[in-house]
Amino acid sequence: MKVDVLLGLQWGDEGKGKVVDVLTPRYDVVARFQGGPNAGHTLEFEGQKYVLRSIPSGIFQGDKVNIIGNGVVLDPALFKAEAEALEASGHPLKERLHISKKAHLIMPTHRVLDAAYEAAKGDAKVGTTGKGIGPTYTDKISRNGIRVGDILGDFDTIYAKAKARHEEILKSMNFEYDITEIEKEWMAGIEYLRQFPLVDSEHEINALLKDDKSVLCEGAQGTMLDIDFGSYPFVTSSNTVCAGACSGLGVAPNKIGNVYGIMKAYCTRVGSGPFPTELFDETGDKLCTLGHEFGSVTGRKRRCGWIDLVALKYSIMINGVTHLIMMKSDVLDTFETIKACVAYRINGVETENFPYSIEGEVEPIYAELPGWQCDMTKMTSEDEFPEEFNNYISFLEEELEVPIKIVSVGPDRDQTIERYME
Ligand code: GDP
Ligand code: IMO
Ligand code: MG
Repeated sequence: MKVDVLLGLQWGDEGKGKVVDVLTPRYDVVARFQGGPNAGHTLEFEGQKYVLRSIPSGIFQGDKVNIIGNGVVLDPALFKAEAEALEASGHPLKERLHISKKAHLIMPTHRVLDAAYEAAKGDAKVGTTGKGIGPTYTDKISRNGIRVGDILGDFDTIYAKAKARHEEILKSMNFEYDITEIEKEWMAGIEYLRQFPLVDSEHEINALLKDDKSVLCEGAQGTMLDIDFGSYPFVTSSNTVCAGACSGLGVAPNKIGNVYGIMKAYCTRVGSGPFPTELFDETGDKLCTLGHEFGSVTGRKRRCGWIDLVALKYSIMINGVTHLIMMKSDVLDTFETIKACVAYRINGVETENFPYSIEGEVEPIYAELPGWQCDMTKMTSEDEFPEEFNNYISFLEEELEVPIKIVSVGPDRDQTIERYME
C-alpha cells in the first residue's frame, strides 16, 4: 500500500482539517508530518466546531490511529491543553494517538526567541504565529534540538543545557522575558506526554504499509509558506510540500500515492509577505466578511484576494498533485464576476511562470468569469451545480491540468461534494 498526502497549495488555511476529517473513514491511519501549533485546522460537524493545532484531523472519526510524525515540532504545554480539551469533550485519544520519539520539542525559550527575532526585524518581521516554530527548527538543523525521545532519558540535564544556550542568546539581544509560569505548564506537559505511546513512527508506518493498511498524511501550512519554495523569507520553517511527508514520516518517495492539493476558490494570507492578487478594496472586505477570514487560533485578520493560478500551477508542479480539492466556493455565491489571475506582468513583461521572487511590482493579469449568484450551501451533488459554477470549475481544470475531485460548499463535514471520485 502507498500513503496519500493531503496538503495546502496556497498560504495555509485552505481547509485541510475539514477535508482530512471527511476522508478519514477511507483510511486506517492519519499522520501529521510537519509544522506544529502554528497550524489551526478547523472541523465542524454535528453543530460542534473544533480547532486542532498539533493533533491530526483524523481524531474524530471512529477509533482510527493518528500519528504525530518526526517532522512535527511539539509544544508539550499546548499539546496537553489541546488533548485534555478533546478528552473532556468525549473524544478519548490516549491509546490511539502515537507520537514519534524523533519529533522535536518546542521549549518555552523557543517561544521567547521567536518573539525576540521578530522584534529585532522591526518592520521586516515575518508575522509569525509566535509559537517558537522557527527557533525550534533552527535548533533541529543546527543539531542542538531536544526530542520527544529525550524525555525517556536524563531529561533534566538535556533541558537545562538547551535552555542555557537560549538564555545566552536572549541576553546578548537584551531581550527581557519571564517564563516562570509557562515553564511550569511546559513541565506538566512533559509529564502528560509520558501517558501516550511514544513510538518509532517510521517503523510503525512502514509496517502498516507492508500490512496493506492505508495512511493519509496531513500537511500543515501551505506550499507558498514552504521553507524552500514559498515566498522566502516570509515563510514557515518546514517543508510543507509533498516531499515533507517523506522526510517527516520516514516514507520513501516511491510509497507516495495520491496527492490531494487543497485550494480556496479565492486566496488568503495571514502575516507579512508578498501576495500578488491581494485586494485592498471592498471586494477584499467582502471576501473577508463572507469567508470569516480570521485566524483559527490567533484571530488575526486574513488578507484576501482572487485565486492565483500562476502560484497554483507552481504548487501543483512541486507537489505532484493528482487531485484538486476546492474549498469555500460558497463564499463566491453572491459575486457577479469572479476573477482568476492567469499571468503576472513584471517590469512590463508578462509571464505565466512563477518567478524567483514575487516581491515588488507584480501586476496580476486576470481572466473574468460570470458568477453563479445562487446559494450553493445546501447542495449535495454535482448535478445541482449551476452552469456558471461548472464553467468556473472547467476553466480551473483546464488551466491547472488536474481534476477537481471535491468541492466544499460550507464549513460543515456534510457540506462536501465529490465529483467522479474513484
Ligand atoms: P486549515 O488550516 O487548512 O485546516 O484551514 P482553517 O481551519 O485554518 O481555515 C479554514 C476555515 O474555513 C475554517 O474556519 C473552516 O471551518 C472554514 N471552511 C472550510 N471549508 C469551508 C467551505 O467550503 N465554506 C466555508 N464557508 N467555510 C469553510
Ligand atoms: P495552517 O496549518 C496560515 C504563517 C504565519 C507567518 C509564517 C511563519 O492552519 O494552514 P511561523 O509561526 O510558522 O514561524 O509563521 O507562516 N503561518 C500560517 N498561515 N496557516 C497556517 O497553518 C500557518 N502557519 C504559519 O502567519 O506568516
Ligand atoms: Mg489554519
